[in-house]
Amino acid sequence: MTTPAAQRENRITCPVLRSRVTSAEEAATHVAPGDSVGISGFTGAGHPKAVPQAIARRVEAAHARGDDFRIGLWSGASTAPEVDGVLASAHALDKRLPYNSDPALRRLINTGEVDYVDAHLSHSAQQAWFGFYGDLDVAVVEVAAILPNGLLVPGSSIGNNKTWLDIADKVILEVNHWHPRDLEGFHDLYYGTALPPHRIPIQLTHPMQRIGDPYLRVDPAKVVAVVETDAPDRNTPLTAPDADSRAMAELLVDFLRHEVAAGRLPPSLLPLQSGVGNVANAVMEGLLTSEFEGMTAFTEVIQDGLLDLLDSGKLRSLSSTSFGLSPVGAARFRENAGTYKGRILLRSQEISNHPELVRRLGVIAVNGMIEADLYGNVNSTHVLGSSIMNGIGGSGDFARNAYLNFFVSPSTAKGGAISSVVPMVSHVDHTEHDVHVLVTERGLADLRGLSPTDRAARVIAECAHPAYADRLADYVERARAARPEARHTPHLLREALSWHADYLETGHM
Ligand code: COA
Repeated sequence: MTTPAAQRENRITCPVLRSRVTSAEEAATHVAPGDSVGISGFTGAGHPKAVPQAIARRVEAAHARGDDFRIGLWSGASTAPEVDGVLASAHALDKRLPYNSDPALRRLINTGEVDYVDAHLSHSAQQAWFGFYGDLDVAVVEVAAILPNGLLVPGSSIGNNKTWLDIADKVILEVNHWHPRDLEGFHDLYYGTALPPHRIPIQLTHPMQRIGDPYLRVDPAKVVAVVETDAPDRNTPLTAPDADSRAMAELLVDFLRHEVAAGRLPPSLLPLQSGVGNVANAVMEGLLTSEFEGMTAFTEVIQDGLLDLLDSGKLRSLSSTSFGLSPVGAARFRENAGTYKGRILLRSQEISNHPELVRRLGVIAVNGMIEADLYGNVNSTHVLGSSIMNGIGGSGDFARNAYLNFFVSPSTAKGGAISSVVPMVSHVDHTEHDVHVLVTERGLADLRGLSPTDRAARVIAECAHPAYADRLADYVERARAARPEARHTPHLLREALSWHADYLETGHM
């Protein structure tokens, strides 16, 4: 629900910044052709709601005059149709990083119109600081309020906002009245990161430990415009878990039970990380009906399943960088925001996904995948080797450093025409050295401590769809026979790649 402007409370109580309030159109004039623009936003939460659309209109007008006008866009992660979607349809972008899930922009990336830098989410801030991406000209950051002393109350995501505010030459702030004013106190902004060789350990030993401030800082001298909005986050409905998702969730929860019984996990488990998507959400729902109590989460996105777990009392607390709720979940949070204070903490993505912290806390990571191969290499990003789906996101940050990681996917895609278990992945994001457990609706393959050939046998037996299992087993057997001196990771290279090529040519593997 939006509030009429006349009835809105004053959320910009800093006189200096109050004097910069202007329209989105006026703010957009501060963005010039060729600029790099760093925006807030993470999984449809906390993105600027007005200025990107005004930039898109400016670009369209420039193109109509025959002028070239394109910008680079840096974010925390995915945004929403009113950011990536409108900028893609205006052909306003020449570069995008570090993550995108917008279908219109995906098409432009895959046709080569937009350069895409698909980076680990925990790396993007530091790589910007290192200067790997060039200079950041403008930051456009949404906040919930501006305090009298100029400190910023962040919104529903933090992402890379701290870094963009610090390094941009100019800053545009959007103050969104849709966010509950109660969000003040939900954030922990760590300002202790330095560049090598001056780095010190990050002293966080519990997911809910506060190591920073509740506010973002900005140099008021850099703020060229402040725009007021009252617009919702892009909360996309989650589909109810289907039979496959429920099967994967049950397998995974049962495996956790087994690990507790074996003494490899404590009864309250270890901090959970759950990737985006319906399967990850279904796993959280599976935990809801489980016997596990006193759980915590150290993750990057809060989907409805995690909120349900928190409401049930089974999850004690959760640290994240963003919300990613459905409309129903968002309404529930907004109505009761105050009651979640102290149980939810939002951090910068360089902290929520930090390898040092993920490893120290011993995170249990659950992420989706496109395909896995017989030896445990995982492709999270590319369809048939060349077309990007979304990006690696935080999956590498968490999986590589997790105490225990799971990659989950249905055993087939495209109505059964593609096997998600292949001889050799068409693109590799997570190597066999990083991957612990694969889960499909058929079963769960625990690959820890296994040699490549033992992994292959287990992946075929547990995870492959029956329509493909014999062909995969035959592949391994023939590969072993073909070169007796090369049996460590047996492959028939031409055939391994033709597995994917066949689909491109015939529509079937
Ligand atoms: N071959 C071809 N296409 C495949 C495929 C395969 N083996 N597996 C999945 N796909 C396609 C699906 O058909 C679907 O395409 P569509 O949208 O055109 O229908 C799409 O990929 C998504 O697959 P879906 O089964 O709906 O799974 P999902 O929503 O759980 O997404 C990933 C799976 C891998 C795309 C998603 O988890 C992701 O982007 N991961 C990388 C980022 C990440 O892990 N972040 C985690 C930290 S938040």
